[in-house]
Amino acid sequence: MEPRTITIFDTTLRDGEQSPGASLTIPQKIEIAHQLEVLGVDVIEAGFPVSSAGDFEAVKEVSAVATKTTVAGLARSLEKDITVAGEAVSAAVHPRIHVFCATSEIHLKHKLKRAHQEIVKLSVDAVRLARSIVDDVEFSPEDASRTKPEFLREVVQAVIEAGATTVNIPDTVGYATPEHFYQIIADLIANVPNISQAVISVHCHNDLGLAVANSLAAVRAGAGQVECTINGLGERAGNCSLEEIVMALKVRPDHYGVRTNVDTRQIYKTSRMVSTLTGLQVQRNKAIVGANAFAHEAGIHQHGVLAEASTYEIMRPEDVGVPKTALVLGKHSGRHAFAQRIADLGYTLSDDQLTEAVAHLKALADKKKEIFREDIEAVVEDLLEVTTRHWSLESMQISSGSKVIPTATVSLCNAAGDLIQDAGTGDGPVDAVYSTVARITGVSAKLTEYSIRAITGGKEAQGEVYIKLRYQDRSYRGRAFSTDIIEASALAYLQAINRIITANGNESAPPAGL
Ligand code: KIV
Ligand code: ZN
Repeated sequence: MEPRTITIFDTTLRDGEQSPGASLTIPQKIEIAHQLEVLGVDVIEAGFPVSSAGDFEAVKEVSAVATKTTVAGLARSLEKDITVAGEAVSAAVHPRIHVFCATSEIHLKHKLKRAHQEIVKLSVDAVRLARSIVDDVEFSPEDASRTKPEFLREVVQAVIEAGATTVNIPDTVGYATPEHFYQIIADLIANVPNISQAVISVHCHNDLGLAVANSLAAVRAGAGQVECTINGLGERAGNCSLEEIVMALKVRPDHYGVRTNVDTRQIYKTSRMVSTLTGLQVQRNKAIVGANAFAHEAGIHQHGVLAEASTYEIMRPEDVGVPKTALVLGKHSGRHAFAQRIADLGYTLSDDQLTEAVAHLKALADKKKEIFREDIEAVVEDLLEVTTRHWSLESMQISSGSKVIPTATVSLCNAAGDLIQDAGTGDGPVDAVYSTVARITGVSAKLTEYSIRAITGGKEAQGEVYIKLRYQDRSYRGRAFSTDIIEASALAYLQAINRIITANGNESAPPAGL
């Protein structure tokens, strides 16, 4: 018997973007949407169009560029939401409107303040309106896992009658456990008479760390669509992670007997892209895409893997697109070797970008013996970041020690090519650099986050600095790396300053020296 195909509904650009700290620009969303198509997801939920002009535009632009994937826009069960979502997805080859309405007692009583029959009517009217705009309508009874089973059945039956083509069962607050969630899906399949007329979908949050397990249980019970995000991003503790659910289904066909359309070799690249563009790092021991996911530390494991990989590996790194390290790259490596490794990592660069990337890597190879995969990824992803460079770092000199006042002399180049130099002091060397850069650029923003980590091993490790600046009620990220952590700090700060200037125009940056 042919295995069932599970529809993979990616909501990185909607629920994923609701992760604290993850906001994406429209060009970044387009870049991710392109990659999601290459990855082979079936549905991209591109945003919540009525929520902001930016979300509307993002859903509209993703709809215009997606060539084969269904594009969904989220809407509450309100006329305005639904018409706006319909407009936003209208250019899609396969448009979908995703309508939701809460159904649990808690939400009815405290949030919606509505009676049960009003909820059924709202939901049915919403689905009918959405169906008058598009043929593909998904309905979600929000907080389904805390909804009374008999009321959930009633709503599901009613929205299918009204024309919902997919009914999505969300575990909105991550309350379900696998046995419980299996039961919810099995109950709907057994007891809703028209259930076969719609695809049953699931949308699990990870508050108890069970989002993937709950989604797998739902697949076992008969669900046909799983909603998930790259790197498990999403509201609070996140959503079901796409890479984990897809690989679990792939590695265990004996148990689940299903398949997906995902090209798993694109997983690693997609994960890196989403991590870079959202600024949310992937934890080292994260399943499938973490830096340690395929690293064997114990001698006995290393020995086993060398003898026969399947002794300790249930999947091969290359199955998820983690390239095998071939030759060692260093300062004697030529352009061709760097270009080959960049291509092996899945990046497609223009000739100019390639030249710039190789120049950066060769400069880096002069500072450290060996160039690792993470070095290449950091350089290339930095290059691919869509940030206008209003200011760039020309040079800097720091004087610091236990008995001197930390002082920084910084020289920056503006967009017109003028070099501006200034010096300043601070509580430490980074503070001295930051106050000097703020004075030169004229952008005074509050530093709200600063973190540093080593991205490659050893004494000459590259340090990655991640910062957040608060400027006029908005946060701006900056991320940079260097073997010199003060330089990485300065570059990250400048990147955030450049973002502020791009977003606010020059009013944020009076001419230097004022
Ligand atoms: O978690 C949730 O309930 C949602 C719905 C809008 C599907 O994100
Ligand atoms: Zn959600």
